[in-house]
Amino acid sequence: MEVKIAVIGGTGVYDPNIMTNIRDETVGTPYGEVQLKIGNYRGKPVAFMNRHHEDHSVPPHLINYRANITALKKLGVKNILATGAVGSLNPAMQPGHFIFVDQFLDFTKCRQHTFFDGGMSGVVHVDMTEPYCPELREILSHAARSLGFTSHSSGTYVSCEGPRFETAAEIKMYRLLGGDLVGMTSVPEVCLARESEMCYATIAMVTNYAAGISPSRLTHQEVVDVMMQYGENIRKLVMQAIHWLDPDRRCDCHSALDQVKLG
Ligand code: HPA
Repeated sequence: MEVKIAVIGGTGVYDPNIMTNIRDETVGTPYGEVQLKIGNYRGKPVAFMNRHHEDHSVPPHLINYRANITALKKLGVKNILATGAVGSLNPAMQPGHFIFVDQFLDFTKCRQHTFFDGGMSGVVHVDMTEPYCPELREILSHAARSLGFTSHSSGTYVSCEGPRFETAAEIKMYRLLGGDLVGMTSVPEVCLARESEMCYATIAMVTNYAAGISPSRLTHQEVVDVMMQYGENIRKLVMQAIHWLDPDRRCDCHSALDQVKLG
């Protein structure tokens, strides 16, 4: 049976136990093997992947994004709900709030951003006007409202290379450029999902105000602690969204490559 829904758990979201009948699966890809879990939620098969692995041993710049997305594609996944801890640049987006981001600014530096490197794989310039699936974002907003969680239905995610946190000057610049949130993983994950014609949405959870805005210095432990503190809310939100998500629905994201492949 195809698995059409996947959850990618980011920092602090390591527990696949929203599902029943969980089994471990290893998926081979041209980019390396991927370990994930497959289970059921209310009769729907769901894949759960830990982006940083269970012990948070893989930093954002070394995640094998191409292998992860290829593994999900091989399973038949069409819908990805990805969680991510973020710092906030926007006073209206406060710790504990959910943001269903609609745009990104890419400040990553040395990652593999595409499946299309020319040669056999061809050359593709995929449209990125709307990188995050509007239908999944709508479902998430609706789910957050129904659960009484404070959420924002749009926001601009600034994707940084990491693993260091930002300087105060960088945060000031990102604010001037229109960024709302800062994190380290949405790019290239969302780009590769789009190249794979999958619907992708980020569930961004604010853990802190960004450098130079917060009166205190940020630590990774603080990010993990805040994610854990709101872990139950994240679980409830993901469960409600999966419940409302029709795995067989059709979406424009599924034809993102129509007529764009060259060579
Ligand atoms: N910067 C980058 N990544 C983050 C932050 C931050 O302030 N908070 C959580 N992830």
